[in-house]
Amino acid sequence: MRGVICKVCGFISRTGSAPEKCPVCGAPKKSFEEREDAIKIPKDANNLSELEKKHIPVIAFEKICGMITEGCQDAHVKIGQIQHPMQSEHFIQHIDFYIDNEFIARVHLTPEKLNPAAAVHLKVKEGKLTAIELCNLHGAWIKEVSFK
Ligand SMILES: [Fe+2]
Repeated sequence: MRGVICKVCGFISRTGSAPEKCPVCGAPKKSFEEREDAIKIPKDANNLSELEKKHIPVIAFEKICGMITEGCQDAHVKIGQIQHPMQSEHFIQHIDFYIDNEFIARVHLTPEKLNPAAAVHLKVKEGKLTAIELCNLHGAWIKEVSFK
């Protein structure tokens, strides 16, 4: 899938164009380039390969947050339906979150001590949540879901 990507930190714009400044690392617009293969997508969404099952994010919503009791729902993301490795030679480097194509958070992950998962606490009640993860060997993979 085509994407406009920050060459400094790997952030991928979901608005279709480069921002004035990268929301993750602050790099200027000229640090972005358009790539045809910025994001990997499955060849056949109804018949995923093992590699695809290990990389496409899985998103689940928790309507009642255990920490913020008023007006919070949690979005949990794990990689993937077959759990991705987290070893120093092969691991998930980060998970970026977007709401309605606007960047909201990046969770940096390190190998060995962590599982390939992250969560954000949402104040907004509805929209489209996008998760893009970056594997150090296999590139960036995306999942999008509507929630309310
Ligand atoms: Fe991988």
